[in-house]
Amino acid sequence: MTNRIRNHPVLAVPTRETISFTWHGRLLTGFAGDTVTSALVAAGIDCFGRHSKDGSPESLFCANGQCSACLVMADDVPVKGCMTPLKQGMNLSPVNDLPSLPRDDSPPQFAELPVRDVGVLIIGGGPAGMAAAIELGSTGVETLLVDDKNMLGGKLVLQTHKFFGSEEDSRAGMRGYQIAKIMEAEVAALPSVDVCLDTTAVAVYSDGVVGLVTGGGLPGHSRYHQVRPRRLLVATGARERMLAFPGNTLPGVFGAGAFQTLVNRDLVLCSRRLLVVGAGNVGLIAAYHALQAGVEVAAVVEFAPNVGGYAVHADKLRRLDVPILTRHTILKAVGNGHVEQATIGAVDEEGAVIPGSEQEWAVDTVLIAVGLNRVDEFYHKAQEAGIPVYSAGDAAEIAEASAAMIDGRLAGQTIAAALQHGSAPSSSSDWISKLAVLRSKPGPTHAQSPPAQKALVEPVFHCLEEIPCNPCTSVCPEGAVATEGDLITGVPYLFKPESCKACLNCVRVCPGLAITLVDSRTDYHHPTVTVPYELPHTELTIDTEVIVVDRQGEELGVYPIIKLLKPSRAYPATALVQFRLPRDIAWRAAGFRPMTSPAAAIAAAVAAAAQTIICRCERVTETEIRDAIRAGVRDLNQLKALTRTGMGSCGGKTCRPLLEDILRQEGVPPTDFTPLTERPLFVEVSLGALAGEKKVRS
Ligand code: SF4
Ligand code: SF4
Ligand code: FES
Repeated sequence: MTNRIRNHPVLAVPTRETISFTWHGRLLTGFAGDTVTSALVAAGIDCFGRHSKDGSPESLFCANGQCSACLVMADDVPVKGCMTPLKQGMNLSPVNDLPSLPRDDSPPQFAELPVRDVGVLIIGGGPAGMAAAIELGSTGVETLLVDDKNMLGGKLVLQTHKFFGSEEDSRAGMRGYQIAKIMEAEVAALPSVDVCLDTTAVAVYSDGVVGLVTGGGLPGHSRYHQVRPRRLLVATGARERMLAFPGNTLPGVFGAGAFQTLVNRDLVLCSRRLLVVGAGNVGLIAAYHALQAGVEVAAVVEFAPNVGGYAVHADKLRRLDVPILTRHTILKAVGNGHVEQATIGAVDEEGAVIPGSEQEWAVDTVLIAVGLNRVDEFYHKAQEAGIPVYSAGDAAEIAEASAAMIDGRLAGQTIAAALQHGSAPSSSSDWISKLAVLRSKPGPTHAQSPPAQKALVEPVFHCLEEIPCNPCTSVCPEGAVATEGDLITGVPYLFKPESCKACLNCVRVCPGLAITLVDSRTDYHHPTVTVPYELPHTELTIDTEVIVVDRQGEELGVYPIIKLLKPSRAYPATALVQFRLPRDIAWRAAGFRPMTSPAAAIAAAVAAAAQTIICRCERVTETEIRDAIRAGVRDLNQLKALTRTGMGSCGGKTCRPLLEDILRQEGVPPTDFTPLTERPLFVEVSLGALAGEKKVRS
C-alpha cells in the first residue's frame, strides 16, 4: 500500500481495517472501503490487462462506471474495478485478451421478478437527486432514490473545495463532501423516501418499467429488480469526455473526475507530477486538488484563447507558480506501459498547431478535463416509453453542483405538484431565476485599484470577475461587505469602511481564497496582512521565509511569516498566515509560495508516436473512422458494423461524442448522419441477474 495519502490539508485520513487480496497470485493488502481499482492503484498497479486487439495496456479512465477500461477478473468473473468493492481474500487477475467465463454446468434456477410500483423513482443520488428527494419527502411523496455507489453524494463527495453561490441557497462556503453528509442525513430522516445504494439502473422498457441491478459490481451477488414509477426523475449526472490524441489510452491518462475520485474519495496518490488538459472549472479545481494532495502540477493547457473557469480558481494556481497556457493543446502522451512524457503545442487562431511550438513535459499523468456529457439516455428512453419523466442537475444541463442542488429542488417541487394535481409552488419562479444565475458563465473582470485608505483595518478583495457568489457579504457580522448592485454576480467591496472589526470571517469563508485582511492599527507603514492557505503546511513555521505574490502570482518579495492562525471550527481546513509588509505592496499581496517551489521541468527525449484511439473498448483508431467517413459512411450503426466502434462493453458511451466530433470535422452536419441506436441495456448486466437467477456463487 505504497501510494496512499497520509496527510491532507482538508481531509481527515481515517484508520481503516486492512484486508488481503491477490493480484495475479501476488499477495497484496488494501483497506476496507476500497474499490478494486483504488486498492490496485494504491499498490502501484495500474495496468489491468492487455487489449485483445493490439495487446496495449488497459487502465482506468473515468473511475465512475461509465467506461469499461478498468475491467479485471475478480474471483473468475469480469467486473469493473472502479465499481466493485474490495473484499477479504479476493482473487484478482488481469483481463488479457478476451475475458473467459467460469465453467459452470449446473442448471440455473430462476425466481419470479415482481414489479414494484412507486410514486417517484429518482436515478442518481448526487446533489440534484438528493435535493429532489428532500423536496418530495418533505411533502410525503413515496420516493425511491437509487444510486450506483455505496454512498449518496455523487460528485459532492469528491469536492474538497468550498462552494460558491450563496449561503442561503447553496450552502456557499461549505465544502462539497460536508454538504453531501448533511443532505444524506436530511434524506435519511424522511420516512417516505427509500434509498437503494449500490444499485444501477440498467434499462427503461417500453412498458414503463425500469430495470435495476443491486450489487452489480460484486461477483455472484447481483440482484435484478423492476420498478414501475408514476414519475421518473433522471439525475444521473455527467460523464467525462475523452480526448483524441496519440497515447490517449496509456495508463496515466485519466479523466479529471477519476483523479478526484482516487485522490479525494479514496485517498490514493495516483500521480507524482501531472499535466491538466482543460482550464474550465473542472480542470482548474482538479489541479488545485492535486497540489493539496502533494502532487506537482506541471501546467494546465487550454485550447481556447481564455481560461474558461472562474478567475479566482486560475489565480490560486498562478500564485503557486502553475503555468496556465491558453491556446495550447496536448499533441501526444508517450511512455513504456505508462505515461512518462506529454508533448504540448501552441495553436493559432484557426486551431492549427504552430510548427516549432512543441514542448515535451516529463509527467506521469495527464488529466483530461475538456468537458462533460450529460448522462441522459434514461431520459430519452423514458420519453419514448411514455413515462412522465424529468431531468435535473448535470443530466439536464452541465453546471456547478450548486446549480444542480437548486435544479433538483425545483424538479422535486414540480413532480410533487404534478402528483398532487396542484400547480408549481409560488417560490418556483424565484428559484428558476437563481438557477439561471448559477448556470451563467462568468461576467467581465474589473480592474483592481488600491483601497481608498479610509480605514485602518479592511479586507482586500482579489475577486474581480463577476461570478455568482456572495458568502463574503453574509458572513460579515458588521454587515460591512456588499456586492456591486447588490447582485450575487456583482464584485464584492467594503461597503462600510469604518465598520470592519477584523473578525476574519470573510477571509476564511471565501471559496476562491481571494480575500486578505490588511490591518494597519499597530503600524501604519507596515500593516499586517492575513492570507488564507489550504495546502499542506507542516513545514511552515513562524519566521519561515516565503515568496509573497500578488493576485496572479507576480512576486512581491521574500518575507517571513509572523503568525500562523489555525483553522476555525466554522471554517475547518482554512489556515491563515500573517506577514508584515510595506504599505505599498500590502494591498496587492494575495498569497505566497514556498521558496522551494519546484520549477516546471522540461524533458529531453521524444518517444515514438502512438496511434490515436477513438473507441477505447474496441481499440479503433481515428484513421479507421475518418477513412470510413470519407468513403461515405453516414450511419454510425454502419460505422459500428464496419469498424466495431461503439460495440464495446461501455456501449458506445465513451466514443460516441468523439465520433460526432469527427463527423463535424469532416464536414458532416448532425442532420446528415444517423446516430448510434441505443442498446436496450445501458449497463452491463449478467444474464443470470436479468433472469432473476437465485443461485449465489460460492
Ligand atoms: S474581517 Fe470580519 S468584520 Fe471585517 S469585513 Fe470581513 S467579515 Fe466583516
Ligand atoms: S470574494 Fe466574495 S464573491 Fe468573491 S469568491 Fe470570495 S466569497 Fe465569493
Ligand atoms: S469506447 Fe466503448 S464502445 Fe467505443
